[in-house]
Amino acid sequence: MMYYPQELIEEIRMQNDIVDVVSQYVKLMPKGSSHFGLCPFHHEKTPSFSVDRDKQMYYCFGCGAAGNVYSFLMQMENCDFPEAVKRLADRAHITLPEKELSAQAKEEARQKQRLYQLHSSAGRFYYEMLQSPRGEAAREYLKNRQMLPQIQKKFGIGYAPSGRTLLMEHLQAEGYSLREMLDSGLVMPNKDGSGYHDRFYDRLMFPIIDVQGRVIAFGGRVLSKGEPKYLNSPETKIFSKRRQLFGLNFAKNAKRKELILVEGYMDMISIYQAGFHHVAASLGTAFHADHAKLMKKYVQDVILLYDSDEAGTNAALRAIPVLVKNGLRVKVTQVPDGKDPDEFLRHNGAQAFAKLLVDAVHYVSFQISCIQKKYDLNDAEHRVRFTVEAAQALAQIENEIERNVFVGEVARLSGVDTAAISREIEKLRQKEDTDSRPLLHEGRAFAKKEIPYSEKGLLEAQKDILLYCADHKEGYLKMREILTAEDFTDETCRQAFYVLEGLWEKAGVIYPAELTGFFEEIEQQQMIAAIFASAVPKESRADQEKALNEEIKLLKRHRLDKQISKCTSAEELQNLLAQKRRVEQLYITILYG
Ligand code: GTP
Ligand code: MN
Repeated sequence: MMYYPQELIEEIRMQNDIVDVVSQYVKLMPKGSSHFGLCPFHHEKTPSFSVDRDKQMYYCFGCGAAGNVYSFLMQMENCDFPEAVKRLADRAHITLPEKELSAQAKEEARQKQRLYQLHSSAGRFYYEMLQSPRGEAAREYLKNRQMLPQIQKKFGIGYAPSGRTLLMEHLQAEGYSLREMLDSGLVMPNKDGSGYHDRFYDRLMFPIIDVQGRVIAFGGRVLSKGEPKYLNSPETKIFSKRRQLFGLNFAKNAKRKELILVEGYMDMISIYQAGFHHVAASLGTAFHADHAKLMKKYVQDVILLYDSDEAGTNAALRAIPVLVKNGLRVKVTQVPDGKDPDEFLRHNGAQAFAKLLVDAVHYVSFQISCIQKKYDLNDAEHRVRFTVEAAQALAQIENEIERNVFVGEVARLSGVDTAAISREIEKLRQKEDTDSRPLLHEGRAFAKKEIPYSEKGLLEAQKDILLYCADHKEGYLKMREILTAEDFTDETCRQAFYVLEGLWEKAGVIYPAELTGFFEEIEQQQMIAAIFASAVPKESRADQEKALNEEIKLLKRHRLDKQISKCTSAEELQNLLAQKRRVEQLYITILYG
């Protein structure tokens, strides 16, 4: 949600020269009209990271990182857009306006603020208890589990003592009301209605910390036997299990494109302690799409390292599609002999653990081997069932090349030839396709499964059109008459296309950095910035005109073909076909303004 006015965002951007800001992190050398340095976003030995003072943009020729001063800070500090605005406003000594909130929203915000403070206070209390005489058994426990003191400190490990109202008394003394304690979930009513008690007692305490570094909940482990082994805070105004990963607050600082995902608190901490800082835990709950979205903000690759028992394997199999659907690349590895990662590290050490990571397999291989375990491949009947089940898994893969790689793997295991497996997969995919969209008879002839357009071609066309529109006001106005929102397949390009209107109204020239500033997601900023950074001047006006016409036609054709493939009435179909003929005759002369 953008809540600062765009003019202010722009003012702050202009007051923070990108060369100065980048120079705080990267040693830059002037070269031509740009400055160059070693890219902070990937490892390199020769500088390919360029910063352009005129354009107020950066671009890395090595890894493609690109953007304006906001994107730079977001990437560099792993923060979100509002946070970047705040920091740069501070830097330029610009005071940000207070949020205009309704009375109710203000009250909500105040309550949350109190809950954060309460948790931080509780965290300190538990931490001190661990160091106190009461904490002796817990300290002994940690020692046995070989958690180093500096790691205990880093993670804020604490101890909830066995008195049942000690936290309550502490919070009371600090001025928290009973209402606030109950809202935090750390205090709860006695069963018989006679008063209140602490949720956690005689447990080892793990603070759960959000990516902004605030304690928002706790997990507590029994010191010896007892049920439940782990007890977590309930859902509260500031804690939602499905949006939280334990340890991500530390892992994000590892600035890696990859994250190891484990099941348990202790697994996460042990792996971190062994020097692998890119690790987080999903805390026993079912893996949710929100978890995946959270991870996607920081990484592209995930190594799933769940326990190798049946429960862990099933949890991994369920997490895979959630991760894949959210655009993460997934590999899977398991600890041998039914141990968990924490035990494995203690017995085998960091080097063996590193090997485990290297041995991670593509998630499809993992799925296939899980299916394989259910069958005896020496038995013909089993081989058939294995092949059918594996084909079902492969039919879910969208990328054809990827699919084919694993067809080979299934063929090798089953002895069935690849062509037969491929046909089976194709059948399954077509079935799914027709199941999900019924078509009338007339439409069917046009219903191709895959419209023969390359995603890349479509995207390039949209980028090129944007580039032109940001350069030529008259041309842009003409495009506005021709292109509609539906002609765009890429959401960022679509938005940018409409943002240009306001920018052109305001000024006679558009700065790429300003257009980039309209986007809050780093991916979007990168994309817009990259369009301008990598622009190649067209050779002649005639060439450009020809190219643009082809691009417009491509987008329109694609949109119409898509509509045709979904169309359910003969009349609609006629109409669409007529539109398609008109598109083929379309030719625009571009204007230079
Ligand atoms: P240690 O025995 O301390 O090494 O724990 P672990 O991480 O090996 O535990 P386990 O593999 O049994 O469980 C993995 C994760 O599931 C834990 O870290 C907890 O987050 C969660 N979990 C385990 N037991 C319970 C439980 O009884 N209740 C709840 N709510 N969560 C649990
Ligand atoms: Mn364990």
